[in-house]
Amino acid sequence: TFIRVITLLLFTCCQVEMPNLWGPQPPQSASILGFMSVLVTGGAGYIGSHVARILSQAGTPVVVVDDLSQGLDSRVSGLPSVNLELSGAHAVPALEQLLIEHKITAVVHLAALKQVGESVKNPEEYFSKNLGGQANLLTAMKNTGVKKFVFSSSAASYGEPNVELVSENQTPEPINPYGQTKLIGEWMAQNAQKAWGLSQVSLRYFNVAGAGWPDLADTQKLNLIPIVFAALKDGVKPKVFGTDYPTPDGSCVRDYVHVMDLAKAHVAALDYLNQDQREFSVFNVGTGSGSSVLEVMDQIKKTTGVDFECEILPRRAGDPPRLVADVSRINKVMNWKSENTLVEIIESAWQALN
Ligand code: WQD
Repeated sequence: TFIRVITLLLFTCCQVEMPNLWGPQPPQSASILGFMSVLVTGGAGYIGSHVARILSQAGTPVVVVDDLSQGLDSRVSGLPSVNLELSGAHAVPALEQLLIEHKITAVVHLAALKQVGESVKNPEEYFSKNLGGQANLLTAMKNTGVKKFVFSSSAASYGEPNVELVSENQTPEPINPYGQTKLIGEWMAQNAQKAWGLSQVSLRYFNVAGAGWPDLADTQKLNLIPIVFAALKDGVKPKVFGTDYPTPDGSCVRDYVHVMDLAKAHVAALDYLNQDQREFSVFNVGTGSGSSVLEVMDQIKKTTGVDFECEILPRRAGDPPRLVADVSRINKVMNWKSENTLVEIIESAWQALN
């Protein structure tokens, strides 16, 4: 606290320019997570805004940081938010001031570029933004004594594991720069724990979809379910990339997890960080069961009532036949389980569009 007060005074005297804030100031109050105020980076994004809202509605003061390159400020109206590019030249002092000003006690870090194909074409930007941004954030946290960190990692860190269920003990072998930045991001958090006592946990997201609230729906068309909805809206055939995989119906199998369940996993992770003795720092977040592309298409037909035809295309490079999470660790250690099935995922996403 002493360091924080001195630092804040220095900032005030040096008139460091406050990054532009929007939204009301959060009240300091006890919440389900105790006296904790949380900074959510990428909090104006599809997943980040669900995390910010679920924390805020549970009584935890939340501040959002987002550069609005992908995020929408409409998703976080009512929350104090700062427009800041974490990998920018002046990000560290601006973050330090933000952490002190809002008495932040924990950070949930989701801000990152996340398109696999784009990362292959422009790896330098992915390493610079994703890893540079995280390095600045961890530096600011170290300098201001903020010691709780939940990192948004990804199943992409596994690469193409040839197993029925992927457990956290599977050796990560990412096959693209995006997945590499997620694995390295986990290492960065683990190094900070060893170097200066950061309490940290990484959540490896499987395939996230659905909408907890219509105004927080996934508006990007980067993943299967929103891509199919957009195709139907445009009156074109949804595409299936490959039906010759070694799977029951020949199409790829993935573990689709509802974004609300994923947001709740972040609350569980923050609570887990309150435990002094923690055995693990990496957790899969999925349902533990898989759905094929063709099964997703069938459910979309049932939900929308549109009996559409699909265009069957060759395989897409880099697609493993099956990627389904072993979720026994998070179930047991954090007592977290997904509550929604593929039906609720697709129904909530469809309702959010109509
Ligand atoms: C799912 C399946 C496609 C579009 C990505 C990221 C991963 C994570 C989840 C962030 C694949 C098939 C898709 C289409 C199709 N994101 N497909 N027709 O590739 O499993 O994983 O999102 O952490 O890191 O890599 O998700 O939605 O792109 O594809 O047949 O029009 O749907 O081939 O088998 P993916 P996806």
